[in-house]
Amino acid sequence: MTATAELGCSRGPALVIGATGYIGRFVAEACLESGCATYILVRPGSACPARAATVDALRAKGAIVLEGSANDNDFMERKLREEAIEVVISAMGGPQILDQLNLLEAIKAVGSIKRFLPSEFGHDIEKANPVEPGLSFYREKRKVRRAIEAAGIPYTYICCNSIAGWPYHNNTHPSEITPPLDRFQIYGDGNVKAFFVAGCDIGKFTIKAAYDSRTLNKTVHFRPACNLLSLNEMASMWESKIGRTLPRVSLTEKDLLAVAKENCIPASIVAALTHDIFINGCQINFSIDGCKDVEITCLYPDISFRTIDECFNDYAAELKQGNKITSPTSMVYMASFPPTHA
Ligand SMILES: NC(=O)c1ccc[n+]([C@@H]2O[C@H](COP(=O)([O-])OP(=O)(O)OC[C@H]3O[C@@H](n4cnc5c(N)ncnc54)[C@H](OP(=O)(O)O)[C@@H]3O)[C@@H](O)[C@H]2O)c1
Repeated sequence: MTATAELGCSRGPALVIGATGYIGRFVAEACLESGCATYILVRPGSACPARAATVDALRAKGAIVLEGSANDNDFMERKLREEAIEVVISAMGGPQILDQLNLLEAIKAVGSIKRFLPSEFGHDIEKANPVEPGLSFYREKRKVRRAIEAAGIPYTYICCNSIAGWPYHNNTHPSEITPPLDRFQIYGDGNVKAFFVAGCDIGKFTIKAAYDSRTLNKTVHFRPACNLLSLNEMASMWESKIGRTLPRVSLTEKDLLAVAKENCIPASIVAALTHDIFINGCQINFSIDGCKDVEITCLYPDISFRTIDECFNDYAAELKQGNKITSPTSMVYMASFPPTHA
């Protein structure tokens, strides 16, 4: 018997919004793997072949595709009712965070949604305090939280911290790119630690939390001790995989703040959050002791997380096969900094 079943939670149908996106795909795949009836909301008319391929792949695994937009209240209300959706998980992207306010209206009107997980999937946006424009981005996510709470919608906030991969400060989807092969850019002194969680684990534990009564109206923090690493440790680990050392170029606090100050979206948001993680230590400078906070490894102590070591092995294996993993579309900014060797 699973932990969730022991807690007496049903496993009614889930709707994943944003399943064609970076985080949403991990969530949709995990939902399908968990055996739940999985609906995915897909905006009609996507001309992008990669997105169409994602939809086809999820459909082949059993996803039920609903064509429509989360902004269409009547459509959302009707579908939530017709399909008897119990859990709604949003992984809408950065520019669409406030669009979730429309979605909340539909969820409120239906009144039968047992759990809503808004698009969070990062740091604790109440506790972290990045510089602008990261702060405005967090204010939007905070506004969605307040609207959920005011509407009395049952919720869970997922704070999964960083996705496993090299944390490029100029990339919104860093794990899609191989760790560096020429030089490391080390933020600050490179000793501030952060939590790195594999995409498949973000998906898997998000689904577990969505159906767990212990996470009702709670913030769930992903803090697997095995994946708490500094950039210097990450760099050494990657060097051991590729069998050579690389130069380490220092990016100072001032450098990151300068990129943030340019207010070029989304590059400056990524730089502001990178500054908050690797200079301010925003993932580790608070303890999880509030009555509204739970830590994921306390909920599921017997289920292991993929380690960074394993993730780096995958990148190294891809390189050996000649499949250099790059995704130029997600590179949002290429800053040139003076090569200050640390
Ligand atoms: N922890 C981390 O390292 C990390 C990294 C990246 C993002 N995040 C967070 O994860 C969340 C998701 O970001 P992301 O980068 O994964 O987003 P993304 O790749 O831009 O994907 C956004 C998804 O939302 C869908 N969408 C947008 N508007 C919609 C609407 N009105 N109706 C239905 N679907 C809609 C898009 O569909 P289309 O295919 O139609 O465009 C797409 O599938 C954000 O909160 C972000 O801050 C965390």
